[in-house]
Amino acid sequence: MGKRTVLTGITTTGTPHLGNYVGAIKPAIEASHEDGVQSCYFLADYHALIKCRDPEVVQRSTLEIAASWLALGLDTDKAIFYRQSDIPEISELTWLLTCITAKGLMNRAHAYKAAVQDNHEKGEDADFGIAMGLFSYPILMAADILMFNANDVPVGRDQVQHLEMARDIAQRFNHHFGQHFVLPKAVVDDKVSLLPGQDGRKMSKSYNNSIPLWLPEKKLRKAIMKIVTNSLEPGEPKQTEDSALYAIYSAFANATQREAMKQAYADGIGWGDAKQQCFELINSEIASARANYQELISNPAKIENQLQQGAERAREITVPFMGQLRSAVGIRSLANLKV
Ligand code: TRP
Repeated sequence: MGKRTVLTGITTTGTPHLGNYVGAIKPAIEASHEDGVQSCYFLADYHALIKCRDPEVVQRSTLEIAASWLALGLDTDKAIFYRQSDIPEISELTWLLTCITAKGLMNRAHAYKAAVQDNHEKGEDADFGIAMGLFSYPILMAADILMFNANDVPVGRDQVQHLEMARDIAQRFNHHFGQHFVLPKAVVDDKVSLLPGQDGRKMSKSYNNSIPLWLPEKKLRKAIMKIVTNSLEPGEPKQTEDSALYAIYSAFANATQREAMKQAYADGIGWGDAKQQCFELINSEIASARANYQELISNPAKIENQLQQGAERAREITVPFMGQLRSAVGIRSLANLKV
């Protein structure tokens, strides 16, 4: 290949919101059109099983996330777009990596530690309710990344530790079995990663402050009207700092629009007007993709077909590489062994 590989996974729980769009989907789709990089984007459905035991939700979310990326114009001729569970080599590699990963390394993972801490606070046994999937999930994530020898992995700040673990695991494997893995790097874009939600805190499904990406127009407008503002009246000058509405507007605006809105704040634009402008801006950006989305979502077989094509391309990489790795650890045919 010779190209740099950029890879990221999207856990298939829930439905995409504006924060996901601005922070992850949009930059990834823009990057998918670039020459000179091989981008790999995948639906992390095995990761979904860690948090979700409702099969319908996992399936529905897989459909919605795949449809969203396709509707927004992911270039599937350039990017490889696949579903994790269609690539059995990823699970196989997970085991090879599990056998060399220090348990102590996993003990330090934030998600696991938070769960233990939570139990501690509730007076429960340290490991109460904690499944092995949660504990060893950084190893699955390392396999996702190392399987494709990804150089750059765009992620949110909360995932940086997992990338460090992936590097650690790769180094250990290379040390024992020879140079097989590239050491991946987390790419965190501070500019785009923090969209506030309706209440001003980071937009997140768990805060119940998120605006779903594919709300019908009227509902989108309503959701934007609910963004918190202060009680300043029209005509009173307003601050853009600490204004969730301004931050959301900015995330969709170009430089000229941003400047104009800043001026409007200073000139005392009414909150209702500012929200209306915000709605119009966002709606104009996503309206045509929304129509694509509606069409795709009612045609799951078409999406499945796209994913199968993606899996085929992914496996052109993973099948031979897994053969190499299997041999490296001594899982080999006996047929040609000279004794
Ligand atoms: N764990 C990531 C998240 O929750 C999703 C993910 C799974 C991922 N595998 C990955 C991201 C590999 C980057 C690379 O956001």
